[in-house]
Amino acid sequence: MFGTCLIHPSEKTDIPTVTLASVDGLHSCSIFTYGATVISWINNGKEKLFVSTEAYMDGSKAVRGGIPLVFPQFAQPNPAMAQHGFARNQIWEILGSFSESDSISAILRCKTTEETRALWPHDFCLLYQITLSATKLITSFAIYNPNDNDIDFQCLQHTYLRIPHITTVAVSGLQGREFVDKMRAMNKYTEENDTICFREETDRIYVALQQSGDQASAPSVVNLVDAAIGPMMKCTSGVHRMEPQSADVAQLLQTALIDEKNSNFWIEYTGQWLHSPIHEDIDVVVWNPWEAKAKALVDLNDDGYFDFVCIEPGLVSQPTKLAPLSLLLLTQILEVSN
Ligand code: BG6
Repeated sequence: MFGTCLIHPSEKTDIPTVTLASVDGLHSCSIFTYGATVISWINNGKEKLFVSTEAYMDGSKAVRGGIPLVFPQFAQPNPAMAQHGFARNQIWEILGSFSESDSISAILRCKTTEETRALWPHDFCLLYQITLSATKLITSFAIYNPNDNDIDFQCLQHTYLRIPHITTVAVSGLQGREFVDKMRAMNKYTEENDTICFREETDRIYVALQQSGDQASAPSVVNLVDAAIGPMMKCTSGVHRMEPQSADVAQLLQTALIDEKNSNFWIEYTGQWLHSPIHEDIDVVVWNPWEAKAKALVDLNDDGYFDFVCIEPGLVSQPTKLAPLSLLLLTQILEVSN
């Protein structure tokens, strides 16, 4: 057995937090069920994620840091709905956990409520599997469409990576990609540099590479490198779509996703995700607010922007369509290089 799972009250609220920890005490991760936000990932005794010291940890605002989940909108195309949607502000249910020889996982779920229906008039079921191992944190965010019509949405994992200093790190792996620059009137450019350094506010959507025919495209691999430390983190991400094979399977899934409370079902069902091949490439947002924006954000201390860079995989450059009874899996693999 690699580790254990503990459900406990959070520091500032009774909303539970789930902590996965390795038996040897070297690795752990914590998931605040408010937003299913991963708020800590410790690898070999070192914290790898950034959470602002000013973050609201009482369930009154999305957490500034960790890995908030964005759904069903990115930014605010619908001004009646909050920026980045509502998933990061819902309390998610804990469905279960399971340990294997080299990893431990937890599974959380979020479903339609009257409140979400008023903001977005569709049913949905979100599942989130977090897997901790000695070298990786794998987060698989699944969106299931239980409706009998297509749904359109945007989704993303808003990952805040802890860094020594914003001026010493660089991001590589995006050369040749088209990006939408939010800092330059949403104009599109092609990335010419093999590494991206940070000297000012940076807010870019690197658009997924086009798929060619039926051929599965490669996942996105983005590396975070520090001038003194060298390679720090490899961030691999992509999308896998599962269509129901037959009406019977669809029916089973439908019933299970909406009603099933039995954690064994989930463990068996979502345990298979880890081995899902990535079918589609993904957009990657690269964000650092820099000085003025950090000052303007109430939940970030003025110097907070020194300590993180966001590398955020998602489907955001345009809404994605999901067919009835289908499931979309957005996987992120964070692997420690150093
Ligand atoms: C990024 C966006 O994903 O999230 C930025 O590209 C945005 O434009 C940032 O400022 C933070 O958003 P929020 O809602 O958490 O303050």
